[in-house]
Amino acid sequence: MKEGTARIGVVSSGRGENLRHIIKATRSGSLPAEVVVVLADQGDAGALKIADEYGIRSIFADPSGLSREEYDRVLMELLDKESVDLVVLTGYMRILSPQFVKHYHNRILNIHPALLPSFPGINAFQQALDYGVRWTGTTVHLVDEKVDHGPIIHQVPVPVREDDTYDSLKARVQQAEFEAYPQAIRMYLDCRPKIAGRKLVFEKNQAGGN
Ligand code: GAR
Repeated sequence: MKEGTARIGVVSSGRGENLRHIIKATRSGSLPAEVVVVLADQGDAGALKIADEYGIRSIFADPSGLSREEYDRVLMELLDKESVDLVVLTGYMRILSPQFVKHYHNRILNIHPALLPSFPGINAFQQALDYGVRWTGTTVHLVDEKVDHGPIIHQVPVPVREDDTYDSLKARVQQAEFEAYPQAIRMYLDCRPKIAGRKLVFEKNQAGGN
């Protein structure tokens, strides 16, 4: 990864509120990065509208009729055209192909609304309520070939209340995500993560160091 301001490409399927908070952090200067392009697989994704609001290039990449590999090649071309350093997934609901993961090896971040390895996959809030856990939360992790599996960068716990409903729990976890994601990206960029097994080893960047 190059020194200085990191170029982020966001890939989303949905609402885009995490994107909004990431953009705000970059614009306030608390995150030394720039969101340079936002891609979505849904034409009506809120993320595209948020990108437009902030004057960021937004592209609906239509997956119709394409295999996973073909679609990911389209995404890679669009991201490479913008010379992104980092790919940030916000509510992206497709599974990435192995060649996409390999192409951006250890440069893809994802946020999942649970404390992984608990409750991977879809419907993490309902899974947490059904299981009866007292704590759930959010996890930002690097993406590897398996779903919701790669090395963990940052986690924030959120208590589950006795009277929690799906909606109340979701609202509190997502509120935690809005701070957690920019913070995790900052941690990743500020330091130089090396991977030792499943663990990120954070060594503070030294000027002139390797
Ligand atoms: C977030 O809660 C994120 O954790 C979840 O989708 C939401 C996206 O919200 N991601 C997943 O469930 C992926 N497994 P947003 O579009 O408002 O940022």
